[in-house]
Amino acid sequence: MPEFQSVRGFHDLLGEDLRKFRHVSQHLREKLKLYNFEEVVLPVVEYLEVFQRSIGEVTDIVQKEMFAFKDQKGRWLALRPEGTAGAVRAYVQNRLYALKPHVKLFYEGPMFRHERPQAGRYRQFHQIGAEVFGSIDPLVDAEIIQLVYEFLSELGVPSVIEINSIGCRVCRPAYRVALKEYLEGVSEHLCQVCLDRKDRNPLRVLDCKVPTCKEAVRGAPKMVDFLCQDCTEHYAKLKEYLQLLSVPYRENPYLVRGLDYYTKTVFEAVSPELDMTLVAGGRYDYLVEELGGPPTPAVGFAAGLERLSLLVKELPREEPLYMVLPFGDVMDYALAVVKSLRSEGKRVELSYKRAGLKKQLELANRLGVSYVVLVGEEEKAGGFYLLKDMETGQQVRVEFNPAL
Ligand code: HAM
Repeated sequence: MPEFQSVRGFHDLLGEDLRKFRHVSQHLREKLKLYNFEEVVLPVVEYLEVFQRSIGEVTDIVQKEMFAFKDQKGRWLALRPEGTAGAVRAYVQNRLYALKPHVKLFYEGPMFRHERPQAGRYRQFHQIGAEVFGSIDPLVDAEIIQLVYEFLSELGVPSVIEINSIGCRVCRPAYRVALKEYLEGVSEHLCQVCLDRKDRNPLRVLDCKVPTCKEAVRGAPKMVDFLCQDCTEHYAKLKEYLQLLSVPYRENPYLVRGLDYYTKTVFEAVSPELDMTLVAGGRYDYLVEELGGPPTPAVGFAAGLERLSLLVKELPREEPLYMVLPFGDVMDYALAVVKSLRSEGKRVELSYKRAGLKKQLELANRLGVSYVVLVGEEEKAGGFYLLKDMETGQQVRVEFNPAL
């Protein structure tokens, strides 16, 4: 084993994995463009308070998973564990609210969480996230979910979209009380972590993966039964729009999220194959204000690129590869052929190996070359080259005169 290994949970992305990763990213970026989102490139590091204030003090991310450190001046900074907090900070700092009634941004990049690594869960992972600022209309929530649905279907990744409403400042407090009361009653079945959560952040108990906790919350009160009129109407409209848009969804009354900023709509696209969430998001109508901006409702989502890449079974065929094989004192001519083919947009490899035809063809086969271009002294003198199709073995003569 080499002396140096990458840090646990931090990975090199290369080869086929990277091609799948880029395929996913490119596909989502194209989709975002069609929905008229504009890209922002956000810093990887923010002041720690930005995350504490947005994600919430009593969340796993803030309490256990942050890569936080002090800079030379003693200020607490953190590697971003997600993109929404930074996007909101940027929206406020750059006064984007002054420009347009609503603003649609997307970002792509690495995120960092100190979680227990496993397949599909890493300490450095990548997200593409999108946020719409400035509209309270459930139509925006529906469009966001529609975008996610179209993206996943077109990518060929099977998933189930779950939705829920987790209410607002008006209706959630009463639900918390009712849920807490219920959890007291089943507390002997809760895990150690949930015993603490039930007092500090009871909604998170609904999301616990421990089997006894899952069982214990089966009969828990549901947020949908506590929604105020505004949230009830918002949720009903969302469902109406999703039906109108033919977006299939499943209501999950116990769907909650691991971040505290959400209000009203929350949703997740879950992969049955991985038993993991691929894309997740929701509405967060108070966060802009909490980070110092004017009251601005917002809604967004983020997609985990590694998880999605794991589910890409087939990549589109790559452009055919050409390989130019020079024989004899013909490098000037061979270089001109290479240049000309590349200028036509072809993917071209120049053989660096000086060997006989048989060896060169073997090498071309190993490299997955579709066409070899044979350039020898006779070809140079005659102003042509031989183009050989490696699959059929057919060879054609192509006129080529670099001086023309
Ligand atoms: P999140 O659910 O924490 O939401 O993360 C979104 C997605 O990032 C997950 O569904 C998953 O695909 C991926 N992900 C999260 N943690 C890991 C990990 N350790 N390894 C690999 N992939 C991971 C958010 O981050 C919110 N900011 C989403 C949002 C945007 N809500 C509103 N706007």
